Parts: sequence; structure tokens; C-alpha cells
Amino acid sequence: MEIQKSISIKQYNSFGINAHANLFAKFSSIKELEEQVELNRQTPILILGGGSNLLFTKDFGGLVLKNEITGIKEIKEDEHHIYVQVGAGENWHQFVLHCIRKGWAGVENLSLIPGQVGASPMQNIGAYGVELKNVFYSLEAWHIPEKKMVNFTLNDCEFGYRESVFKKKFKDQFVITDVTFRLNRIPQFNISYGAIAQELEKMGVKDLSLQAVSRAVINIRSSKLPDPAVIGNAGSFFKNPEVGYAAFEMLKEKHPGIVGYSLPHGHVKLAAGWLIEHCGPAAGTSWKGYRKGDAGCHEQQALVLVNYGNAKGSEIYDLSEAILKSVAQKFGVTLEREVNII
Ligand code: FAD
Ligand code: EPU
Repeated sequence: MEIQKSISIKQYNSFGINAHANLFAKFSSIKELEEQVELNRQTPILILGGGSNLLFTKDFGGLVLKNEITGIKEIKEDEHHIYVQVGAGENWHQFVLHCIRKGWAGVENLSLIPGQVGASPMQNIGAYGVELKNVFYSLEAWHIPEKKMVNFTLNDCEFGYRESVFKKKFKDQFVITDVTFRLNRIPQFNISYGAIAQELEKMGVKDLSLQAVSRAVINIRSSKLPDPAVIGNAGSFFKNPEVGYAAFEMLKEKHPGIVGYSLPHGHVKLAAGWLIEHCGPAAGTSWKGYRKGDAGCHEQQALVLVNYGNAKGSEIYDLSEAILKSVAQKFGVTLEREVNII
């Protein structure tokens, strides 16, 4: 277990921000994690997964601990389900592909989401009509202050849209070490969301399969979202905001093209990408495709902020602040950042 000092974490975050960590180490077991925390008692700790939902606005003065706990174990099964325990350091998409090969259903719509399994409960990852909570069974996490393992059930995690207890209430208190999923033996395909059905048709798929749905999702995602290996980004920078139905009707009257999806209890989820596209740094301009230095708003997906090369985290953050203000000014809607700001 080597501890590195004052290292660049550019290669460890998908925005490609060249921030530095005072101390950096990797751990591949709970024992190694405990030892690192013990050795650095007074030091602030940042648990790092794949770094695909983080924006470093400054150097991190403490210890960055990169999770490398691996392993995929089938722990039990019943008539309808397989229960699979997965080490937090496993790559999410590789885990999805593993499930598909095994014929375990439930995560196929979550194909190609970057990052690690251990971070997936943090914001209850979601895409194409499925959220982590739909397949989540339990997780184990190490409590940093009390140095003990704690088990969390589905209810304990208080999952919401891009939310869990780990993101706010217990922020920086727990290190998730493994996650147990409850996967289906018989697929219940969910292809009603977005362009999945259309993509399957384009692919010439006659009989639905886990592979086909996964491939369709991969195709759609690859056509819409920038690849962090090419342009630095962290996916959607903001959440899609919710408003009441009456507020939505008023917005629609003023802005007939506005995009919103009905939710239960008279709420509507607005497409933040549309709001951002339809305002800009000056009257009559759009943020979409905007660039200042190396910080920008993606040309095809206004919800994704990008680093074209050497942007500082603070420049991306300042751009997000300007976007937030202009959306609030034009639409009276407050955006919330989805990305974790360091
Ligand atoms: P990191 O960025 O390393 O960490 C994120 C947060 O979790 C940090 O606060 C970190 O401290 C904490 N953390 C990480 N691991 C642990 C752990 N083991 N224990 C405790 N805390 C931990 N997200 C979606 O929900 N849906 C999408 O469709 C989606 N698409 C994306 C597309 C692109 C191109 C990119 C770049 C990102 C996208 N994301 C999406 C966001 C991102 O992939 C997810 O949030 C992912 O779960 C982050 O995983 P990570 O391992 O990279 O986490
Ligand atoms: N739109 C625009 N302009 C844009 C972008 C989007 O008008 O520049 C409008 C379009 O009408 C489009 C609608 O917004 O139909 C929705 O866009 P898209 O299908 O690309 O999805 P999204 O709402 O932008 C959300 C998630 C993604 C997830 C996809 C698919 C959030 C914050 N984002 O994006 O998650 O992959 O749906 O389910 O909920 C992430 O969290 O990082 C992420 C990428």
C-alpha cells in the first residue's frame, strides 16, 4: 500500500482537471482501508471511484483513497431472483456486461454508465427508465468516525432522483465496500423510455434480449454523450428540476417549446438541457456550444459541461454558476448541480 505525495489527479477524474492531492493511496480490502485511515487520523479523506461525477475546483489538501475492492459473488437465489454481491471497486459497465452474459436481468438499461459499482448508490444512478434502486438489495459500508461496518437495506438508503443518504445526510462518513443486487431470472424488458424502441427497430431486432436492449442503450448514449476519453466531462452537470403542474402550465404559455415529463402527484420534471439551450450569456444567444477558454457547454447536449483540454475546475464551476443564474433569471427555475464539487 503505497502512499503518494502531492500527485496530479488528472488521470483519475473524467473532467480531466489537473488538480493535486496532498496524499493519494489505493486500497483493495477493508483491512487496507482501515490501516490507511488509522495512519492519517487527522486528515480529511476523499473516497474516489472512477472520478466520473466529481469536479475538483481546487487541490485536495487531504488523502484521496481510491477504491479497488473487487469480486462478484452469487450469494443466494430464489424462484425469481439471483442475489449478487459486488465489490465496490468493480467497474459498473463491466458488471452490467457480466450480468448480461449470465442472463441476469435488471441492469441492461444502465449500460455504459461510467464509474464504479461502489458509487452507484451514492446518487442512485439512473438512465432510460431504470434506477439503481430497482435492483438494489443491500450494501455494506465502513463508518469512518466509528470504524465499523454497517449494513444498509433499501429503506435505509432513502433513494430519490439522483439522491441517497450518502450524498447529503451522511456525506463523507461512509465508505461503501460492496453492494448486493437482486436481479431477475426472467427479464421484464423496459423499452418504453426515450428512443429505445426506435433504436431496436433500426437495429432490426425481432426478439428482445438483454444483449439487444443493452446494445440499443449503448448506441443511443454514444450518439448523445461526449466520451470522457475524448472530451472531459462528468455527464449531466445539473439535475432535471421538478415544478408543480400549475407552474409548468404558466411556463408553457410563455415558452411553448419547453420540455417536461409528468410525474405522479401533479409534478412535472423539466428537461434542464432545454432550459440551458434556450438562454445564454447575452440576450438572443444560447449556452449550448458556448466556450470560454477550455471550459464549455457541449454542442449536442447542453446539460453536459466540458473541458476541452486545460480548463481549471474553477472555470467549469464559474460557467455552471453563470448558467444557473441565467436559467433562474429567464425561467424562474433554480437548477441544482448533480456533480459533486470538491
Ligand atoms: P466518483 O466520481 O469517483 O465519486 C462520486 C461521489 O461518490 C464522490 O462524492 C465520491 O467521494 C463518492 N464515492 C465514490 N465511491 C464511493 C464509495 N465506494 N464509498 C463512498 N463514497 C464513494 N450518472 C447517472 O446516474 N446516469 C447516467 O446516465 C450517467 N451518465 C454519465 C455519462 C458520462 C459520459 C459521465 C462522465 C458520467 C455519467 N454519469 C451518469 C455520472 C457518473 O457516471 C455516476 O455518478 C457514477 O456512479 C460515478 O461513479 P464513480 O465511480 O466515477 O464515482
Ligand atoms: N434537450 C434539449 N437540448 C439539449 C439537451 C436536451 O432541448 O441540449 C431536451 C430534449 O427535448 C430531450 C430532453 O431534453 O429530448 C431530454 O434529453 P436527454 O434524453 O438527452 O436526457 P437528459 O434529461 O438530458 C437524463 C439524465 C441522464 C440519462 C438520460 C437518459 C439527468 C440529470 N440526466 O438526461 O443521466 O442518461 O436522461 O435517461 O437526469 C447523468 O446523470 O449524468 C446522465 C447523463
